[in-house]
Amino acid sequence: MVEGKNVVLGITGSIAAYKAVDIAAKLTQKGLAVDVVMTKAATKFVSALSFRSVTHRPVITDMWETPAEFNIEHVSLAERADVVVIAPATANTIAKLAAGIADEILTCTVLATRAPIILAPAMDAGMYSNPITQENLAKLRSRGFIIAGPGYGWLASGLVGMGRLVDPNEILGTIFQALGKKGDLVDKHIVVSAGGTREPIDLVRYIGNRSSGKMGYALAEAARDRGATVTLVTSVTELPPPAGVEVIPVESALEMREAVLKATAAADVLIMAAAVADYHPAKVAKDKIKRESETLTLELVKTPDIIGEVRGNIIKVGFAAESKDLIVRGTEKLKKKKLDLIAVNDITAEDSGFATDTNRVILIDRKGKVEQLSLMPKYEVAHLILDKVVVLLSRAQRSPAEKDT
Ligand code: C5P
Repeated sequence: MVEGKNVVLGITGSIAAYKAVDIAAKLTQKGLAVDVVMTKAATKFVSALSFRSVTHRPVITDMWETPAEFNIEHVSLAERADVVVIAPATANTIAKLAAGIADEILTCTVLATRAPIILAPAMDAGMYSNPITQENLAKLRSRGFIIAGPGYGWLASGLVGMGRLVDPNEILGTIFQALGKKGDLVDKHIVVSAGGTREPIDLVRYIGNRSSGKMGYALAEAARDRGATVTLVTSVTELPPPAGVEVIPVESALEMREAVLKATAAADVLIMAAAVADYHPAKVAKDKIKRESETLTLELVKTPDIIGEVRGNIIKVGFAAESKDLIVRGTEKLKKKKLDLIAVNDITAEDSGFATDTNRVILIDRKGKVEQLSLMPKYEVAHLILDKVVVLLSRAQRSPAEKDT
């Protein structure tokens, strides 16, 4: 989805400029063409060569000495950009942009472009809280600029406060979200569940499972990148929350049920990638259970089937983790839970399923069509699942018959 898109990444004179090298590298790794434009001050903090090395493209640092490729520099850069990002954005550059000043190639490009513009401010807390900066940011926001951050924390000045460059992961998420505005899931609300639920036994213990949540997170990010409004109901605490996604943290199957039922009330699609516990302790001990008796018996009761309980005109995609008879068991679950699509994992394979970054799934639809996908990154699996969801959505639009009646 994002492959082949053009990003202009502007760097201004802040100590946080070194973090932008990682942003440039990650964007390049995802297949985007990254044109880095540095202000003079930025080159004092980090070398153009660092950016050139990770993007494999010329870096523009001087309006008057640009590579021949960019003949009418700011115009060609501005025109081909799918998104312009300034990270870090100093108070000085923000002020110039608010005033429409175009004294460097970066400010020229911003003034000339029609692409979405993202600013990630980074500065001293005093400069950030100054009403002048606040007014400038408010003005830019009202003109459609997307402002990411800043964050709170330790600043180079020694102060602790607002002004830190927001987490680069969040900047990346904001970029992908902006690029997704023309995607095929715009105006669709997709609810994704992720992670293994934790069923409390007492104050400190729980019954859990090995699900890492990576597949659900990949689905949430892929849906966001295609323009969807995404709600992620998750029991995962180890993965960074994806930017541009509404994250609802839960622990147990009962909490997940409540959150999923609420979130799907007006959603178009539910994708249950979560490994929901099948049973939970009948009683939760108020204190920590003592190690006294020789044996301990826990009474377990069945959890509600969350995806089965979701009704109405909504596309339902489930997952099944199986160790044998994958197609037979997957088909049974699809029918029993009235799903539109099911993705079946072979949990005996080492390179796919729980905790890995790759997955090999079999997709089965309502018509019994079986598609065996090869081993690939979970983000790619997510896009192939979403390709099917797009088709299901267009079919549902053509024949809005209630399927759960
Ligand atoms: O655990 P099982 O193999 O039955 O899961 C199949 C699908 O049903 C998965 O998508 C899972 O998230 C969902 N599920 C659910 N509520 C449960 C158990 C599973 O929604 N209590």
